[in-house]
Amino acid sequence: MWKKHGPLERHSLLLVLGIVIVVSIGGIVEIAPLFWVESTIEEVEGVRPYTPLELAGRDIYISEGCYSCHSQMIRPLRDEVERYGHYSLAAESMYDHPFQWGSKRTGPDLARVGGKYSNEWHREHLGDPRAVVPESNMPPYRFLADQDLDLHAIRAKLVAMRTVGVPYTDDQIENADADARAQVDVYASETSALRGRYGPRIVQGDFDGDPARLTKMDALIAYLQQLGTMVDFRTFQAEDPDNMR
Ligand code: HEC
Repeated sequence: MWKKHGPLERHSLLLVLGIVIVVSIGGIVEIAPLFWVESTIEEVEGVRPYTPLELAGRDIYISEGCYSCHSQMIRPLRDEVERYGHYSLAAESMYDHPFQWGSKRTGPDLARVGGKYSNEWHREHLGDPRAVVPESNMPPYRFLADQDLDLHAIRAKLVAMRTVGVPYTDDQIENADADARAQVDVYASETSALRGRYGPRIVQGDFDGDPARLTKMDALIAYLQQLGTMVDFRTFQAEDPDNMR
């Protein structure tokens, strides 16, 4: 065996060929099974597609470039878990197209910011970050409360998401407009229909503090308030027990 090794080491072409063969065996073993498994994401109870209002809010989050200062991925490291909560699961961003994981943290990670503050706090903070956090260098987004949310393309947005694999039903697409309005109106008759379509844990409310209008601020805060709240971590059990909790 050792004697036959000589020619291989002296001929660069043979050596390259040998390396290619060995590396491809490793590659095939790692990559080939992915073509046969249905999904690499472990499904987790509670994860649901965004409501139309949250989806519109997510679009504002992206268009305003919030991701350039905020990540949405808590790594499984002790300091992160102690600061932000349970580390992010793949399933939690399975309906995110594109995902918002990021690696730039000028501001804190937002993966579990949902429910951490009141709607009023978000309103104040987005309008003037330094009014609530004096040392903040986050820019103000006061104008979002002055701009009406444009819902003319909301159905098309749901359809687009369905095209890339988000399981929106015909019923959800059909009622996208009404559902967006129902989420900001706690007394609306469509309220129960919205919950019927998206689950009982939908956060409803008058997010921007102006019940007469449906603004971009409503959508953005609705999006922020559900971040990281879909999975109930009191009952969640990771499939791999070696994973850090
Ligand atoms: C220039 C960087 C920057 C941009 C852009 C930015 N932020 Fe921030 N953000 C920060 C910093 C720094 C903090 C921490 C201080 C504070 O709370 O204001 C923060 C804090 C926050 C918090 C509170 C998080 C917590 O756990 O306390 C939220 C929510 C938030 N930002 C949302 C947004 C949203 C939504 C946008 C886009 C509309 C945005 N940010 C854009 C820098 C930024």
